[in-house]
Amino acid sequence: VELAIRLDEREAEPLHRRLYEALRAAILSGRLGPGQKVPSTRALASSLGVSRSTVTQSYEQLLGEGYLQAEVGSGTFVSRQLPEELGHAPKVEPPWPERAGGLPELSRYGASLLQSATIRAPGPEAAIDFRPGRPALDVFPWRVWRRLLLRHLRAAETAMLDYAEAPLGHRPLREELARFLARSRAVSCTAEQVLMVNGSQQAIDLVTRVLVEPGQVVALEDPGYLGARRAFLAQGARVAPVPVDGDGLEVEALSRSPAVQARLVYVTPSHQFPTGGTLALPRRLELLAWAERSGAVLVEDDYDNEYRYGGRPVPALQGLGRGAPVIYVGTFSKVLFPALRLGYVVAPPGLADVLGRAKALADRQSPLLEQYALADFVAEGHLERHLRRMRTLYAGRRRVLEEALEEAFGGRVEVLGDRAGMHLTARIETGLADEEAVRRAHAAGVGLGSLAPYCLEAQRPGEFLFGYASLGERLIREGVRRLAQALLHPRERF
Ligand SMILES: Cc1ncc(COP(=O)(O)O)c(C=O)c1O
Repeated sequence: VELAIRLDEREAEPLHRRLYEALRAAILSGRLGPGQKVPSTRALASSLGVSRSTVTQSYEQLLGEGYLQAEVGSGTFVSRQLPEELGHAPKVEPPWPERAGGLPELSRYGASLLQSATIRAPGPEAAIDFRPGRPALDVFPWRVWRRLLLRHLRAAETAMLDYAEAPLGHRPLREELARFLARSRAVSCTAEQVLMVNGSQQAIDLVTRVLVEPGQVVALEDPGYLGARRAFLAQGARVAPVPVDGDGLEVEALSRSPAVQARLVYVTPSHQFPTGGTLALPRRLELLAWAERSGAVLVEDDYDNEYRYGGRPVPALQGLGRGAPVIYVGTFSKVLFPALRLGYVVAPPGLADVLGRAKALADRQSPLLEQYALADFVAEGHLERHLRRMRTLYAGRRRVLEEALEEAFGGRVEVLGDRAGMHLTARIETGLADEEAVRRAHAAGVGLGSLAPYCLEAQRPGEFLFGYASLGERLIREGVRRLAQALLHPRERF
């Protein structure tokens, strides 16, 4: 076993003491892990150029204190049961003063990150979690996905290990996506316009960097997607809220200040996030016409576009006007799984190239193995098959949720938005403040979110989000039952 130990020559302390300190520090920092064998006293003495008794002395102290343990016949090891204090990570003192928050001077960008709460990590789970965003991961098509990954691992194409040839991503995947988006979403584009990114979050981030100067206005649906709002604020943009109603963004509000100056308008036309409305066709045309007049660029986030349960499919904004100033953003986070971190941007050709340069600067390229497998997944029809299966599953879950809400809350509940996507928004009259309702729900083991965090100027008290895609029908019923119990006065329960 090699041990890199540095003993400071000038220290006044005796050598065996310094060696003891150095070994102890290595164990405490985890450089020497529990159960790891340490060199024999002879070997360490000779590698450090110290006497063997020096090493023996320091080992004995560490043995005595329980940091090391000797096993007859096989040597000396870092103890598996380490002394008490090892359970606690050593306190790291930041090199910057406490009054500065223990931080160096941050850029405007860095400072803006501290303004908003961190993007939600799953956190300690409620037993039944209605918070939106997760697909049904338990029915993920593992076998197909595994087979496609293995196919490419077996083929051992060295190109897959290399820097990508095309700056925009794996070409066959981009071609498949261009065809798929044309079939399913009426997006009109060529592979040259498709840029592969690490999910829609990266798409929004890159688009903002490339198009928005600090101080410029970005218009955002209100209530709207937090991931987008945070990216705009981090870039120093002024965020102009635009109200939404049951038909999505209220386009005529874009003619009012400050939205009228917007460089960029972020919209979720298929299924407004979070309220669930679908942007009606006349509004789509109005929005495109407005963008052409004003010179603003539209960012169309089609995050869960594939899921509609009844009603006619709505073609993407992107394909509605020839040469429309639209950047279309899609993701595999909802249709496959969020950890895949693959999404795509469809942009007018010149802009796709600029976005590709920004992507190259951020992280060069997205991982290729997954892009190879995904290209086959789309080409061989697995994506559309999976979508069909999920559509049936989610439609059923949504129906059960709507029925359960109706049953539990009767006239006190109103389901808002269209039959689409992976969550619904419901207005529930409970007489409680939203935070109190959310707190009570959590206490009853039900994860629930109100609309409040998504609102800028909008006021939507009593409205809650119900993600249903990841919950089985039994859990949905049980969750709603518990909610009614937690939120309604016994007299009012149905
Ligand atoms: C409106 C919206 N866009 C995009 C996403 C997905 O983000 P990503 O593709 O970065 O996982 C979400 C997920 O919650 C969303 O709600």
